[in-house]
Amino acid sequence: MSDFLDFSEMRASARRRLPRAIFDYIDRGTEAETAIVGLRKAFDRRRIVQRALCDVSNPDLGVDIVGTRRAHPLIIAPTALAGLVRYDGEIEIARGAAQAGLPYCAATQASTRIEEIVARSPQTELWFQLYPWRDRTETLRLIDRVRALGIGTLLVTVDTPGSPKKVHNQRNGFTIPLKPSLRLGLDLMRHPGWSLGVMGRYWITRGLPSFDNYPGEVRTAITRSVSDPRFALTTNFERDLISAIRDRWPGHLIVKGIQHPDDAELAVSLGAQGVVISSHGGRNLDSLAHPLSVLPAIRSAIGGRALVLADSGIRHGSDIAKLIGAGADAVLAGRAFLWALATSGEAGVPRAAKLLIDELRTFMAFAGMRNLAALREAQWIDSSD
Ligand SMILES: Cc1cc2nc3c(=O)[nH]c(=O)nc-3n(C[C@H](O)[C@H](O)[C@H](O)COP(=O)(O)O)c2cc1C
Repeated sequence: MSDFLDFSEMRASARRRLPRAIFDYIDRGTEAETAIVGLRKAFDRRRIVQRALCDVSNPDLGVDIVGTRRAHPLIIAPTALAGLVRYDGEIEIARGAAQAGLPYCAATQASTRIEEIVARSPQTELWFQLYPWRDRTETLRLIDRVRALGIGTLLVTVDTPGSPKKVHNQRNGFTIPLKPSLRLGLDLMRHPGWSLGVMGRYWITRGLPSFDNYPGEVRTAITRSVSDPRFALTTNFERDLISAIRDRWPGHLIVKGIQHPDDAELAVSLGAQGVVISSHGGRNLDSLAHPLSVLPAIRSAIGGRALVLADSGIRHGSDIAKLIGAGADAVLAGRAFLWALATSGEAGVPRAAKLLIDELRTFMAFAGMRNLAALREAQWIDSSD
């Protein structure tokens, strides 16, 4: 197991272990790839005006999330195909989440069925992320499966009406269907640990990974595309869809991929308990607004009445503080946990969580913040240097 002291060390270690095609799929953005750089710049520009003359011996990082008091404002974001990072990747993240005491949101496009994740990580608080399919009946059937497992929180992603343009995936041959090429072959040969320990092991034990949550008749290995149009991602996210999901799902409902206060307001009026303000980690539309920019208006619209979560670009504990300062109650992180998984498997997950939380605690103490609410009351400035 390798040691890592911050996000960049996790990422560097993951880069050595993973074939380039997989690393780029996780790491990179879309189109001209300006969004990820933009996320970083905006976080770095934001500064806090420190409060002194106060007691910062024990900052309180606690927060209420869907009816439960949590020690930390952090959730593990849904990420498709985490099973390609490591053999049984989704199970390892789920088990690591229990050790870290964090909820883990499993993805519709996971390579492990949600039933199996639940069975093999009984200690974990699992959420489920829904990508609504074009076929409403099949989407509701998937919700019923999740409901039968006793999962309490459904996160519906509404910012992804298809596949964004990713030139790097096409160049690397990491497309669905997978495009075999000399480049991909060499990439795999240069990473024998992954080729044998992940792909080779799947090959021997259960066959090539697939989108395992899809019904049996349409499920195919990721080397082939799901051709049945009923299981394409929906392009119609009108209120009717959210209402149908609300009617079918008795638990907590959170809508992920919101940027406009009117959409946040509508989601809440349709019965959602919360929203995730996101630019999808800079992985969807390259020109989306930074969550830091849109959070204040959304907090004004629904804050206090509904849960405001945020994600995209979290690399340090200070980034968490900045999203909360801009209006979030708590945050999700995606890549941080995938790098930890690539580097150290299950054990990496609580280590990555501790790293981010320790950094957040240090930020709070140095900035003179007693609790998370103080971050939202603090004075922040965007420095130009
Ligand atoms: C490899 C990868 C796959 C993802 N797959 C999904 C997905 O299936 N559904 C979804 O709602 N978000 C997905 N996301 C977005 C994350 O949920 C989250 O919004 C994003 O990763 C946050 O940014 P960060 O990675 O910089 O923390 C994915 C992100 C990554 C990195």
